[in-house]
Amino acid sequence: MAASTASFAESGADLELVGITKRFPGFTAIESLDLSIPAGSFFALLGPSGCGKTTTLRLVAGLEEPTAGQILIGGKDVTDTKPFQRPVNTVFQSYALFPHMTILENVAFGLRRRKLPDPVGKAHEALKLVELDHLASRRPAQLSGGQQQRVALARAIVNRPALLLLDEPLGALDLKLRRQMQLELKTIQTEVGLTFLHVTHDQEEAMTMADTVAVMNKGKIEQMGAPEQLYELPRTAFVANFLGQSNLFTGPVVSSTADAITVDVAGVPIVVPRTRAQRHAGEVAIGVRPEKLTLFTEAPAPAAGRNILGPGRVTDVSFSGVSTQYLIEVPGIGELVVFAQNMVFGPVATVGTEAWVSWNADHGFGLDDDPVDIPRSVLSPVGPGDSTESIAIQRRIALEEELEQA
Ligand SMILES: Nc1ncnc2c1ncn2[C@@H]1O[C@H](COP(=O)(O)OP(=O)(O)O)[C@@H](O)[C@H]1O
Ligand SMILES: [Mg+2]
Repeated sequence: MAASTASFAESGADLELVGITKRFPGFTAIESLDLSIPAGSFFALLGPSGCGKTTTLRLVAGLEEPTAGQILIGGKDVTDTKPFQRPVNTVFQSYALFPHMTILENVAFGLRRRKLPDPVGKAHEALKLVELDHLASRRPAQLSGGQQQRVALARAIVNRPALLLLDEPLGALDLKLRRQMQLELKTIQTEVGLTFLHVTHDQEEAMTMADTVAVMNKGKIEQMGAPEQLYELPRTAFVANFLGQSNLFTGPVVSSTADAITVDVAGVPIVVPRTRAQRHAGEVAIGVRPEKLTLFTEAPAPAAGRNILGPGRVTDVSFSGVSTQYLIEVPGIGELVVFAQNMVFGPVATVGTEAWVSWNADHGFGLDDDPVDIPRSVLSPVGPGDSTESIAIQRRIALEEELEQA
């Protein structure tokens, strides 16, 4: 984006939540939450609906009072301050623009009300940043949904908040526009250098945009880190299944060396690197991502450093262009998911085929959960309504619609 951003160059502030608890009558929405977000970062809070994301944002904005804990912005304790005293602005899913005002006046409105100098000049500058200055004299109804959301963003940024809170701001947009806006938002954040706290239940959105993702479940942060790190080394079953899919197994650790543990999975020894396992003894849960598995239709020869499971039977084959997803039922173990890149024409196995899978032992991971809490199969929903499965299905439907339109 070519817009001049000189006057947006004020840096963002860091945000710190210390032991934040929020209880509503008869319900604890947030449980002693600690969170530290460095200044100028793009931070995503990811979790299923109802896990406490909006409540967290409302606490930061000062719209709710915490039951316990402290909120610090730029090192200053703002826990007891009013919303307007905090250097914070929020962008919601509904744009809530004033319909009778022009785009320019919508963006300038807050500055005018606070009697700040040069509201019109600053509003133009903010509109340039979201590439809508050429539509400044239009009214909201004359803009598309995506454009209206960009106006809402300009309206928030024009106040130069040290901290911008975004509560599922792209949720009302269709899939394609959402993807485009994800990239734009990321560019804008890099340009203005403000701290963005972005809330979403869309794992792909969080991974695409954020420097750091915190996965939230039932009012708690389960794991936090760079997207690649969370994906490659999930620490809990929830993270393993909410962020992409996983094949999970349970069993006792039967031997261990300085480098690896061996887990007995229904009679088959499975090796996991020690550094990639949270637990090293007793009953444990381990896993591997579907794209790390190689599918065979004949028993593969045992090889050092590789785990092998099978034989099982292919129960489903679904072709999705760049890859094919196979479901394989292995007796005593359950259903495995394999993503195979389409390197050959057509599937390598069909429903009913006898199949084995193998993977490099270095690609496995060991979870921190108690194995009894682990869903039996990767397809078990992680939460009503927002399971990986239902998200995947929604994705597929959206994709099919897109393909039909094309
Ligand atoms: N004012 C309130 N009174 C009682 N319960 C609430 C209130 N606000 C939110 N909750 C509950 O707190 C939980 C978290 O809500 P919310 O933060 O909106 O979740 P999310 O934004 O992650 O979908 C939900 O179970 C919700 O019903
Ligand atoms: Mg919400």
